Amino acid sequence: MEILDGIHYVGVNDRTKHLFENQWPLPYGVAYNSYLIVDEKVALVDTVDISYCDVFFEKIDAILGGKKVDYLIVNHMEPDHSGSIRVLRQKYPDVKIVGNAKTFTMIKGYFGIEDGLVEVKDGDTLSLGSTLLSFYLTPMVHWPETMVTYDAKRKVLFSGDAFGCFGALNGGCLDSTMNLDKFWSEMRRYYACIVGKYGSPVQKALAKLKDVPLDYICSTHGPVWHDNIGKVVGLYDRWSRYESEPGAVVVYGSMYGNTEQMAEAVARGIVAGGVKNVVVYNASMTDASFILSDVFKYSALVVGSPTYMNELFPCIESLLQKVTRRDVKSKIFGMFGSASWAGVSVKRMTEMVEKYNWTQVGSVENLHGVKLSKIEECEGLGKQIALEILKNK
Ligand code: FEO
Repeated sequence: MEILDGIHYVGVNDRTKHLFENQWPLPYGVAYNSYLIVDEKVALVDTVDISYCDVFFEKIDAILGGKKVDYLIVNHMEPDHSGSIRVLRQKYPDVKIVGNAKTFTMIKGYFGIEDGLVEVKDGDTLSLGSTLLSFYLTPMVHWPETMVTYDAKRKVLFSGDAFGCFGALNGGCLDSTMNLDKFWSEMRRYYACIVGKYGSPVQKALAKLKDVPLDYICSTHGPVWHDNIGKVVGLYDRWSRYESEPGAVVVYGSMYGNTEQMAEAVARGIVAGGVKNVVVYNASMTDASFILSDVFKYSALVVGSPTYMNELFPCIESLLQKVTRRDVKSKIFGMFGSASWAGVSVKRMTEMVEKYNWTQVGSVENLHGVKLSKIEECEGLGKQIALEILKNK
């Protein structure tokens, strides 16, 4: 697929892998995007997961015929993009590999490649003929060596993971040629799971690139953005500032239904308080990535957990760890918990979130079966949460 004159999409679709990074479900698959720039010199921007290197090189051969790849530009070293570098070097022994100092530490470490490296620093350029590529270092979007590559002639940004989505590409690669419905939520889930911890580096990268004119954004995953550039840049700006919309995620673990009844009551309270955006999740049923995605979307988080072996219910502990490790900011937060003898779940949740500057609204604790008075307390907690959400609208 030729995106623009001289820029070809040579990425691949993976509809086989169940879990990205062996942890995040891929209900719609995932694409590993790579781009071939054909000028007097030929440059390849990133490679693909090693499992797909045969298909990948067939695509490149079909475009180049007998011509060689002169440069490989490594925007990102995570193996979903760097996985085919060793094979590329075997196929094109003279290929020069372009990256920064941190890229090369990783290339040596992963592939033992130490020669034919062209080191670039922030703002450096590389001429392919009529195409002049510029490089901008964008560390921690998503790894320390991450950089982006810009083609000023065509106003194309090769952005690495930034602006990427889960979801394989179904016949097209340009956003203007496809139905994007599923990609918006998959983009947020990708951001929350993969990039979500690095809000501050994303902000720095956006600031660095703010005056760069963009006609196309070529990410390493998901659609090539052309019609929606303003939207995707705006979304990244919001998410990396941890800005959310008014609404609540109520998530619970429950062994025998008591904590679940409390969750239902909390949710009723939030809705009774005038908030329409309420999503309730059973953390034992829904994969954490989908919950995490909505935690980034909505302003309030209310968590319920039984006490289990004198700790939190395991899936709730794991979920809260995922949220806090991403330094999610500005949450309106409430808790509820139940127990059969010594209840510690609310105490444990308090300990987990205490260093975060969240707005703590309150908590409800229950022992044994849920009594009407506790249901009313939970509805009351929900109404308090709603008040906070509407206050911060
Ligand atoms: Fe798609 Fe951070 O690799």
